[in-house]
Amino acid sequence: MLLTIAFWLLVCLIVFLILFGPVARFLRVTWEIIVQIYNKKTIDLRTKFGEWAVVTGSTDGIGKAYAKELAARNMNLILISRNLEKLEHTKDEILLINPKIEVRIIVADFAEGENAFVKIRPLLQNISIGILVNNVGKQYEYPMYVGEVPEKELWDIINVNVGATTLMTRLVIGQMQKRKQGAIVNVSSGSEFQPLPLMTVYAATKAYIKSFSEALRAEYSRFGITVQHLSPLFVNTKMNAYSSRLQVSSIFVPNATTYARNAIAILGKMDSSTGYWAHSIQKFFTLMPPVWIRTKIGQIMNESFRQDYFKQKEQKKL
Ligand SMILES: NC(=O)c1ccc[n+]([C@@H]2O[C@H](COP(=O)([O-])OP(=O)(O)OC[C@H]3O[C@@H](n4cnc5c(N)ncnc54)[C@H](OP(=O)(O)O)[C@@H]3O)[C@@H](O)[C@H]2O)c1
Repeated sequence: MLLTIAFWLLVCLIVFLILFGPVARFLRVTWEIIVQIYNKKTIDLRTKFGEWAVVTGSTDGIGKAYAKELAARNMNLILISRNLEKLEHTKDEILLINPKIEVRIIVADFAEGENAFVKIRPLLQNISIGILVNNVGKQYEYPMYVGEVPEKELWDIINVNVGATTLMTRLVIGQMQKRKQGAIVNVSSGSEFQPLPLMTVYAATKAYIKSFSEALRAEYSRFGITVQHLSPLFVNTKMNAYSSRLQVSSIFVPNATTYARNAIAILGKMDSSTGYWAHSIQKFFTLMPPVWIRTKIGQIMNESFRQDYFKQKEQKKL
């Protein structure tokens, strides 16, 4: 009798772990890797979601590369960034890739919070947005303790990482709901996997993006809206200029083009992913230890990047 109870308790435990526990997490990540490597079927984004895409933070890094990939897929584009000259240059580069599409630019600084939307709102009003890529993001200049981060920089990080994604989504979701069509791509970060000392506020804003995306999907998927949440690990962009080790592209630190090409290939196929197969392999191993160990490892990693930044600064002085 006791043996039977023990047997069934063990069965229940295994089923629980498979459905909800770490086993489920690893199965999900394994699935994420398999889909990215084997499912190469291209989706016609224009037909599935609509003709226009908006990309925030589109003059550099992942946003610019993502916009170029969207252009190659025949999407009309609206690019939003702070700098008019860089926007015009990006527009020209994109039109060389695909002269048949329409490209519009909007100069807006998301660090200005509500004021940025005074400029953006009227320019988006009569356009049916098919895809919104909430890419814009701000990181500390280098890994810092919270007390060291200038107050203005903290406000900027909150306004850019949390405010822009939330309010841009609010701006377009109504018309997507009416058309029963559209995609919202929220670019988070692997820093959402656990608390990340020395990038404390940045990582916390990305945990917000994960929660926001998952709840938004629950609210709006029944209206035909895709909400995709991407959590890349390191990508070789100017955001990581604090360490020269992250400014060298490799299989695990791809350049922005490689990352964007992989990420766009799974739009409409996966709701949540790192967006890049090699990052998903890293995620698989990253999620193995308990959160407190990962937090400690993250702290050690950031202490080392902080030292890189100070060394680079010293070398520049010489
Ligand atoms: N790089 C990584 O390793 C990495 C890893 C995980 C997640 N991510 C996330 O990926 C996203 C893109 O990062 P990235 O590395 O490509 O960044 P990036 O190279 O620094 O590019 C940021 C883009 O955003 C624009 N931007 C910056 N501040 C802005 C503001 N206040 N208002 C409007 N536009 C602004 C910049 O253009 P202007 O300066 O011309 O305005 C630029 O086009 C971010 O959300 C980031 O958190 C990056």
